[in-house]
Amino acid sequence: MTAVKIGVIGAGTVAGGVFHVLLRNQAEITRRAGCKLHIVAVSSRTRSKIDNLLTTLNANDVEVVADPFAVVRNPNIEVVCELIGGTTLARELVLEAIAHGKHVVTANKALLAVHGNEIFAKAREKGVIVAFEAAVAGGIPIIKAVREGLSANRIQWVSGIINGTTNFILSEMRSKGLDFGTVLAEAQRLGYAEADPTFDVEGVDAAHKLTLLSAIAFGIPVQFDKAYTEGITKLTAQDIRYAEELGYRIKLLGITRRHPEGVELRVHPTLIPSKRLIANVEGAMNAVLVKGDAVGATLYYGAGAGAEPTASAVVADLVDVTRLLNADPSHRVPSLAFQHDALDNAPILPI
Ligand code: HSE
Repeated sequence: MTAVKIGVIGAGTVAGGVFHVLLRNQAEITRRAGCKLHIVAVSSRTRSKIDNLLTTLNANDVEVVADPFAVVRNPNIEVVCELIGGTTLARELVLEAIAHGKHVVTANKALLAVHGNEIFAKAREKGVIVAFEAAVAGGIPIIKAVREGLSANRIQWVSGIINGTTNFILSEMRSKGLDFGTVLAEAQRLGYAEADPTFDVEGVDAAHKLTLLSAIAFGIPVQFDKAYTEGITKLTAQDIRYAEELGYRIKLLGITRRHPEGVELRVHPTLIPSKRLIANVEGAMNAVLVKGDAVGATLYYGAGAGAEPTASAVVADLVDVTRLLNADPSHRVPSLAFQHDALDNAPILPI
C-alpha cells in the first residue's frame, strides 16, 4: 500500500491541528506508519475556514465537501476521522462509516461514553477498528498506556485530573484569588472549554472520559449513566483558600476503582494534600494515576486539550490503524478493538 486514504469530518480546531501535524511531521509519520497518510476529503459546514487552512498548507489535493455523509460513503476512503463532536449526528456518521466497512478514529468522548456499547458492537461485527486515544486526556497516550503498556496488570484503580478547563479554573482561583465566573470566561477565551462549558464545569466531560478509562481498565461496558458526577460550580475562592490553609488543594478528580462486588465510577472535587504530585498539576493540564497490581502506581502528565496535543493522539491512532492495514491479514491482532472481558462483574456501585 502506498497511501492510506483518510476522510476527515469536521474542520474545527482539532482538525486544523491534524492537518498541521501531518504535514509538518510527514516524513516521520510515513516511516512509522509504513505508508503515507493521505487525507483525500474533508467535510465542513463552512468553506472559508477550511479553504484558508488548505491554501496555507498548500494541500490542493484535499476535496472539501459540505455533506459529511459523502465522506463516510466515499468508496475511496478507508479510514474516517470524526472530529465534529456531539452525540447525534456524530453517532449516525460513525455507524454509517462502520456499516461501510471503514475504520474510525475519533476524539469524541461524549459519543463513546453515551453510545460506545452500540458503536463498539457494530465495529466488532464488521471487523473494523474504532480508535479513540484523543477522547481521553488529549495528548497523553493514556488509553494505550492502560490497554497496552499495562496489559500484564490487573488494574486496581485509575484516578486523575481529566478536564483541563476545570483545572485551569481551580488553579487561577487559587493563585489569583479570582472568582469562578471571571476565570471561566478566560478559559472560554483561551479555547479550553467545550462548546457548552456546562459539560466542563459540571463534571460531565470528566465523567465521559472516566467512563471510557473505566471500561478500558476493567474490561466493562461503558456506563456513563451510572457515574456519580459533581462539578466545581459551587466552589468559591474562599473554599480554595481554606483548603490551602489546611494544607490541601482542591482538584476535580475522576476516580474509578475495582471492587469484588463492582466498580466505583465518580467525578467530584477532592481535597488532596498539597505535597502530592497531582495536587501540583496546574493550568489546563491533565494528570492520570493508574495503579496496577504488578507495576504499582504510575503517573501520566501532559496537555489535556488544545489543537496539537489532541491532534498528536488523533494522528497516532491513524498511524496505528494504518500499520494494521499494512500488516498481513493473518497476522492482524485487533488490539485497538474495544473488548469486554468482565461483563458479569460490572455493576457500578452507588455512592
Ligand atoms: N474541554 C475539555 C477540557 C477539552 O477542558 O479538558 C479536552 O477534552
